[in-house]
Amino acid sequence: MTIAVTGANSSVGLNLLAHLANREDLSVVAVVRSERAAGSLPSSLRSAPRIASYEDVEQLTRVIAGASCVVHLAGVLVESKASTYKNANVDTTAAVVDASQRAGVQQIVLVSVIGASSDSPNRYLKSKGEAERLVADSGISSTIIRTPILLGRGTAGAAGLVRVASQNKVRLLDGGRYTMRPLDLDDLSRAILAAIRTQPEGVSIHELVGPEAVRYHDLVARVAHMMGRDLSIGTMPLWIARAGAAITSRIRGGGVSPTVIDVITADEAVETNADIELGINLTPLSTTLEKILSDSDRDR
Ligand SMILES: NC(=O)c1ccc[n+]([C@@H]2O[C@H](COP(=O)([O-])OP(=O)(O)OC[C@H]3O[C@@H](n4cnc5c(N)ncnc54)[C@H](OP(=O)(O)O)[C@@H]3O)[C@@H](O)[C@H]2O)c1
Repeated sequence: MTIAVTGANSSVGLNLLAHLANREDLSVVAVVRSERAAGSLPSSLRSAPRIASYEDVEQLTRVIAGASCVVHLAGVLVESKASTYKNANVDTTAAVVDASQRAGVQQIVLVSVIGASSDSPNRYLKSKGEAERLVADSGISSTIIRTPILLGRGTAGAAGLVRVASQNKVRLLDGGRYTMRPLDLDDLSRAILAAIRTQPEGVSIHELVGPEAVRYHDLVARVAHMMGRDLSIGTMPLWIARAGAAITSRIRGGGVSPTVIDVITADEAVETNADIELGINLTPLSTTLEKILSDSDRDR
């Protein structure tokens, strides 16, 4: 069975490729959009990465031809001049759906986000909701996995957490009072593989969060303690952060915007965690934190 992975150079993609490397029964087509991105993929890949543009559906169709499943990972939370919610989150998904239909793909797995909704007033959550809808309406069996903040090698969440916990003094957005359910990156890869293994008919939407709810303030304090640091944590009022981000993101044409701040500071909650349905044993948060600290030591 062949699986095509778009955005293969993303943090989720690199982790998934590592999990797939142990699976002799699965072949992988790693899809990226530049030579630079191809160069960041592991040299142990059994077949050469494929470069494709989402603006060229015929080329994308050729690249994924022969795959029975496409795992679509390309997407952004923080916009830049080149990558907007529309082109990175919505248009890439439309292209993947179109190419999958042409190539006769049997399953699409989309990594989405907790809170995704095409009706959301938040532009990021709305774009992810629109992407979900495109996949769900594709006529191809699809698995949508909504995730919270992901912690693992290369994730923005892990990098931010270690960076903040390494300071002597920090001011967290709203004092870090919001509640998170961080998910271990390895657990997400296991969930994707479980979805591929079971290949359910129709459309399945799973909300998969980590095993422990924790306020960001307490998470930062815990990581600082694990690092042996004495950290003083203060508050950055949300209205100041939003106002600053509105100005800087407008001047730069991207970066942290009020939309991003609203996503980061939203409480992450689900009615039913999908770990049982997907057959995943969630990694305890303490183990995940030890892993990201050891990754950070190794990468330094
Ligand atoms: N990280 C999290 O905490 C989190 C939480 C919930 C959901 N997710 C979702 O999980 C997926 C992977 O996230 P990640 O954090 O691992 O991503 P990442 O490391 O930030 O990588 C982003 C990926 O998207 C591609 N991309 C960016 N702009 C693009 C555009 N305009 N057109 C096509 N591709 C574009 C990048 O390719 P280039 O390198 O070529 O730019 C790269 O492969 C995303 O869909 C994200 O929304 C992540």
